[in-house]
Amino acid sequence: MVSSRGVNPTDRVDLSVQVGALRLANPIIAASGTFGYGLEFAHLVDLNRLGGFVTKGISLQPIEGAPAPRLCETPSGMLNAVGLQNVGVEVFIKDKLPLLRKYNTHVIVNVFGVCLEDYVEVIRQLEEAEGISAYELNISCPNVKKGGMQFGSDPALVEEVVGAARRAARQRPLWVKLMPLVTDIGLIAKTAERAGADALTVANTFPAMAIDFRTQKSLLGNLTGGLSGPAIKPITLRLVWEVSKSTNIPILGLGGVETATDVMDYVSVGASAVQVGTASFSDPKASESIVGALAGALEAVNIFTFNDLRGAFSREVG
Ligand SMILES: Cc1cc2nc3c(=O)[nH]c(=O)nc-3n(C[C@H](O)[C@H](O)[C@H](O)COP(=O)(O)O)c2cc1C
Repeated sequence: MVSSRGVNPTDRVDLSVQVGALRLANPIIAASGTFGYGLEFAHLVDLNRLGGFVTKGISLQPIEGAPAPRLCETPSGMLNAVGLQNVGVEVFIKDKLPLLRKYNTHVIVNVFGVCLEDYVEVIRQLEEAEGISAYELNISCPNVKKGGMQFGSDPALVEEVVGAARRAARQRPLWVKLMPLVTDIGLIAKTAERAGADALTVANTFPAMAIDFRTQKSLLGNLTGGLSGPAIKPITLRLVWEVSKSTNIPILGLGGVETATDVMDYVSVGASAVQVGTASFSDPKASESIVGALAGALEAVNIFTFNDLRGAFSREVG
């Protein structure tokens, strides 16, 4: 977009952000599970224009995923129960990563496991590979060795899994993606920070369900799933604010980001950058379009350095 003064706003507005050790050209990152391995989107989206993207969750062994149907639309959002389908870390390193190296953007690898040892082993294998900017730990997963309790729901488990991942991730930043539905997200965030997280991604999907009472069947093969999209934005916006009050490390805000305004809202309450998830389902180019709109939207409110907006709401309310 060219402004009335004939100069492209992107030339006047500094969109770059710092997330710990990583410098991003702009604050827009495509979110895990909604952007494949990046490669599937490369013919539609100029990956080099994004601040970065997060891969599908990668596990030790390949996972086929949950039975169909896996997605279902809800008012202002979407339910998914994909079941963390992925090719496994070995195939990811051998077949996907080499193709990603030619892009000039940050590749963040989302990592998950069903026990502590899985997380550690996946990171250990990734540490040997080139072309990764950071790890994002998905802790919204059941720990099969602790009766299926989700890692992210209990401070002691968070401390254990983040600490172990930290020791395994010797060369690269470790982002920890929090579960949204916990009693005290500030406590979980502080625990992750203390255990060695370099940044926090806030947040994952909300456990939810949809049924058809006529058939008494779930609209998902897995019975329940995760809610995402604009419906969750007001809830995750508050979570980002809470986390920003409790910790001193960078926050990646996500939940229903569709427009430049959504980005500016998340950054105002303390996020350093955002991720775009469900929006890529209705428009695969959503993340790139938001990058394109952001400079103009900032200039319209007389902001020429994106990072100046960070925490502005929190400063205002004290
Ligand atoms: C189909 C689908 C698959 C997802 N898979 C993952 C995943 O593998 N790992 C993960 O950490 N989050 C996963 N997520 C969660 C998203 O990354 C994001 O946290 C969530 O959807 C909220 O953002 P949104 O409202 O912009 O979609 C997935 C979400 C969707 C919709």
